[in-house]
Formats: sequence, structure tokens, C-alpha cells
Amino acid sequence: MIVRPERAFDFDAIDAVVGAAFDNEHDPEVRLVRQIRANDGYVPEFSLVADDEGDVVGHIMLSYVTLGDRKILQLSPLAVRPERQKQKIGDALSRDAIMRADEALEPLILVLGHPNYYPRFGFVPARSLGIDPPDDAIPDGPWMARKLANYDPALTGRVDFGPAFKL
Ligand SMILES: CC(C)(COP(=O)(O)OP(=O)(O)OC[C@H]1O[C@@H](n2cnc3c(N)ncnc32)[C@H](O)[C@@H]1OP(=O)(O)O)[C@@H](O)C(=O)NCCC(=O)NCCS
Repeated sequence: MIVRPERAFDFDAIDAVVGAAFDNEHDPEVRLVRQIRANDGYVPEFSLVADDEGDVVGHIMLSYVTLGDRKILQLSPLAVRPERQKQKIGDALSRDAIMRADEALEPLILVLGHPNYYPRFGFVPARSLGIDPPDDAIPDGPWMARKLANYDPALTGRVDFGPAFKL
């Protein structure tokens, strides 16, 4: 299995993986992937597939949201085909995405996700870094940030997810 940037010919397979992982082909996450691609925050080189001999078995996206006047990467969504879960495919995608963002000298990655999953990759509560979610109703647990080598502690304030995340 390799992790590589998505290409247009993967898009249908990605829809199928995301739809199956989140248990509904028409669910918000499938639309979210399409909306992210259609918006300014889309970064093709940070939208990755797990490719197992030509089969797309997992997908991850890092795209830009805004924090004040800065663009910051947000991890969403992450999906692994149900019958291939718990085989470290999500792990490989997450670590590869973090490595690529680090190599690109990005300061930080945000995620709104499972509080039991992402800490293994170095994610910590984002509010502890002074970064607030778009909505105060979002609890501390799932709102996380991964500092990268180029982390800048001046990056504080409230995040705006932008139009791609309005479903
Ligand atoms: C979450 C997900 C991406 C993990 O991918 P994966 O390839 O199965 O994960 P890995 O094999 O790398 O890691 C497995 C670990 O993830 C944990 N995990 C899986 N789903 C989880 C969940 N919903 N909440 C918390 N932990 C979860 C497993 O318990 C396992 O933990 P362990 O290593 O302590 O045993 C995958 O289960 C998935 O696609 N789920 C449905 C979509 C989803 O919820 N995406 C994440 C949105 S934030």
C-alpha cells in the first residue's frame, strides 16, 4: 500500500470510501469532500489516498481554514473503507499528511475529531494553545491541534472554517 496525492480519476472511488466509512453515500462527509475541492482552501498535494495496488482503501484531506489573517490546515475528513479498518491505514494516512505539512513548513494542523484517536499522532487540545473553534458549543475533547516544527505561538484566536464546511 502506498499513500499518494489524490487525482481526478480517484474521485468516484474516494466518494465510495468516504460514503461507506461514514455509513451513507449521501452523507455530509461526501459533500464535504466535494465542497472542499471546490473552494479556495483545497490543497491537492495534501489530499491523499491510501492506494492498495490500485484500490483506494482510505482518504484524508488537509485544507485551509482561517485564523485571523492566517491560513491554517485543518484535517477533515479521514475515512478508511470499513472492511479495511483497524489495519493502520488511518494511521499511515494521518502520519503521512502530518509529515507532508511539516515538510511544507506549515505551523499547525487542526482537527475536529475523535478525542481517543488523534492524540496518538501528537494532537493536543487546541484551546490549550489559545485557538478557539468557530462555535463555542464545540467541546474541548474533539477540538485538537498538532504543532509542527514551524509552530508559531502567536497563532491564537478564533478559527473560521469558511464556506466549504457549511453543509
Ligand atoms: C477512524 C478511522 C479513520 C480509523 O482508521 P483505521 O485505519 O481503522 O485506524 P487505525 O488502524 O490506524 O487505528 C485503529 C485504532 O483506531 C481506533 N478507532 C477507530 N474508530 C474510532 C473511533 N470512532 N473513535 C475512536 N477511536 C477509533 C480503533 O479503536 C483502534 O484503536 P487502537 O489502535 O487503540 O486499537 C476509521 O475507523 C474510519 O474511517 N471511521 C469512520 C469514519 C470516521 O469516523 N472518521 C474519523 C472522523 S474524525
